[in-house]
Amino acid sequence: MKFLLAFTGLLAVGFATNPPSTTKVVCYYDSKSYVREFEGCIYPAQARMLPNDLDPALSFCSHLVYGYAGIQPDTYKLVPLNENLDIDRSHDNYRTITNLAHKYPNLKALLSVGGDADNDDANKYNLLLESAQARTAFVNSGVLLAQQYGFDGIDLAWQFPRIKPKKVRSTLGSVWHSFKKAFGTTPVDDKETEHREGFTALVRELKQALNAVRPNMQLSVTILPNVNSSVYIDVPSIINLVDFINIDAFDYYTPARNPKEADYASPTYTPQNRNPLLNVDAAVTYFLQNSAPTGKIVVGVSTIGRTWKLDSDSEIAGVPPLHADGPGEAGPYTKTEGLLSYPEVCAKLINPNHQKGMRPHLRKVTDPSERFGTYAFRLPDDSGEGGLWVTYEDPDTAGKKANYVKTKRLGGISIVDLSMDDFRGLCNGEKYPILRAAKYRLQ
Ligand SMILES: *[C@@H]1O[C@H](CO)[C@@H](O)[C@H](O)[C@H]1NC(C)=O
Repeated sequence: MKFLLAFTGLLAVGFATNPPSTTKVVCYYDSKSYVREFEGCIYPAQARMLPNDLDPALSFCSHLVYGYAGIQPDTYKLVPLNENLDIDRSHDNYRTITNLAHKYPNLKALLSVGGDADNDDANKYNLLLESAQARTAFVNSGVLLAQQYGFDGIDLAWQFPRIKPKKVRSTLGSVWHSFKKAFGTTPVDDKETEHREGFTALVRELKQALNAVRPNMQLSVTILPNVNSSVYIDVPSIINLVDFINIDAFDYYTPARNPKEADYASPTYTPQNRNPLLNVDAAVTYFLQNSAPTGKIVVGVSTIGRTWKLDSDSEIAGVPPLHADGPGEAGPYTKTEGLLSYPEVCAKLINPNHQKGMRPHLRKVTDPSERFGTYAFRLPDDSGEGGLWVTYEDPDTAGKKANYVKTKRLGGISIVDLSMDDFRGLCNGEKYPILRAAKYRLQ
């Protein structure tokens, strides 16, 4: 009997100290995709993504995060950004999503706020943190909204001020110079301390209110790209209040931020002569150095490509960083300059039958060191047209990032977002190849 007790005690200790930490696969769904229309020849006519298209993904996810809700200026209430789509009886996406999620017993549905989708009066994200009254309005309305539509919690994808992009001058040899300059970062926010403390207070107050609904209501924080965590996130004060912190460790370089220079968007480690803080490992390290339990850190993997035009001044080897001439042209699906979804990138890597009138396919360059990522490019033709450089994530690189997460025993990986993964299986016949590869490599 004594032996048995000791044995079960051991077992219990074993489980308590050694939980399976690397288990989260946090799937973001940006509802913008619902209104995306089809244009061009690659896609079947019904190119828009509907909530039902999520179904093949959900068995791989631990969380489904619906993006995005916003903040109503003046009242500071947490509100749907698109009432017609989100809560009106015709579409009722909030309810559709939570119902869909709850078909899977272990899948949690979270409502995410911000996510760079809430651009009407962007300064409200700062102002809210400065006022206890505004925070109360936000917390009360948010908890009510989540509860009303069956969400299991709230994700704060807070729209903090961003790190300034580095400046690039057009003269040769300027890269090293601008790199050095990037270290003397001028502050973009003269109320940094107030915002940091306000965010800690917001997390504490929201946690308390969610707990009052149900003790297992979830609270997470998403660090958007180019938000400086060491400025805004007081890790020791909030880490025990959240279920996880998802770091969107991508888009360090984008054609919008750096139109004249193309570079890796989401390197895992620092490429030579770059700012050592702008990569996945540096972002994760900040949290671990501030005593975050590894199991609470989730690494965000994007499902997009960032594109730049190359011109006759671009270095012909294609090796980044290289001179570029602004964002590449919009894809038929994303319809945003400088941005391609994964299936759009995939379509550019092959040119079936070398069709006349179509540009040659892009040459893919993988990274044998597995530290920086994959890119693909095509030099301009004789008339100077058609040059393109793409930095992107694919199933292979997403798998490598999952492997990084597993090696460091972090909490998991997030896919940002499902609508830009190949949800129709156009690349190789398999739906959601990036999500699948990440999930597979976590195990
Ligand atoms: C983030 O903030 C810290 C602390 O102010 C600063 O040392 C660091 O350079 C900033 N990071 C970037 C990439 O600007």
